[in-house]
Amino acid sequence: MRKSLVAGNWKMNCNAADGEALVSAIKVGLKSSVADVVLCPPFVYLPMVERVLRGSPVSLGAQNMSQHVGGAYTGELSAGMLLDVGCKYVILGHSERRAQCGESDAIVAEKVVAASKAGLLPILCIGELLAEREQGTTEAVISCQLDALLSSEAGLAALQSAVIAYEPVWAIGTGMTATPEQAQSVHAFIRQRIAMKDPSLAARIQLLYGGSVKGGNAEELFAQVDIDGGLIGGASLDAEEFLTICRAAT
Ligand code: 13P
Repeated sequence: MRKSLVAGNWKMNCNAADGEALVSAIKVGLKSSVADVVLCPPFVYLPMVERVLRGSPVSLGAQNMSQHVGGAYTGELSAGMLLDVGCKYVILGHSERRAQCGESDAIVAEKVVAASKAGLLPILCIGELLAEREQGTTEAVISCQLDALLSSEAGLAALQSAVIAYEPVWAIGTGMTATPEQAQSVHAFIRQRIAMKDPSLAARIQLLYGGSVKGGNAEELFAQVDIDGGLIGGASLDAEEFLTICRAAT
């Protein structure tokens, strides 16, 4: 049995006061949870969120990190730094970073390996564009993104401690959620692809769905056999909405 996981990706939202109010409300509302819950605020608020979360079962995660251990990388943050401020998870390869910051499959794979080596749990994001879905190349795109890790020993080792989030790019922030059937079908494909290399990992790895998940649609998405929770953007900025989603993940 895989445990469910719900991760809130705040992206570049909130100020310190709003962020503190949000995390406080989530902490109060989530005294106990069947699912694992993780909050991923902007870097500068990680210490504040860590402080508020102390004593709660909710974990801390970052939204990105460098693939390098340290050195002359102005503006970057290492896995060691994220561990220092209490992070357990790190989101890597989000489609916004792939599209806006030029992160290739190869760079994302390096980051996943670096995170895992350092002891962070990577949340690897993959997903196709609308045009790719319309052209019928969803599975080919997902395969490339996965194979960047599955094809090397280091990548396969890193996946042992990773979570994968399937986020169809056309569903992110658009209100156009994938249907439970569409999401389940890609999740099943991801699991099969991993099983070709490592059946035991395929059975155990947590696969999250992300893209316009709300309190009102979480339950039917999470009820799918290969969906083990969600990576939540917009709805993670509203405590009540986020709590409803967490409660839907049993
Ligand atoms: P939305 O939930 O706002 O669609 O964002 C999903 C996402 O990108 C989470 O990483």
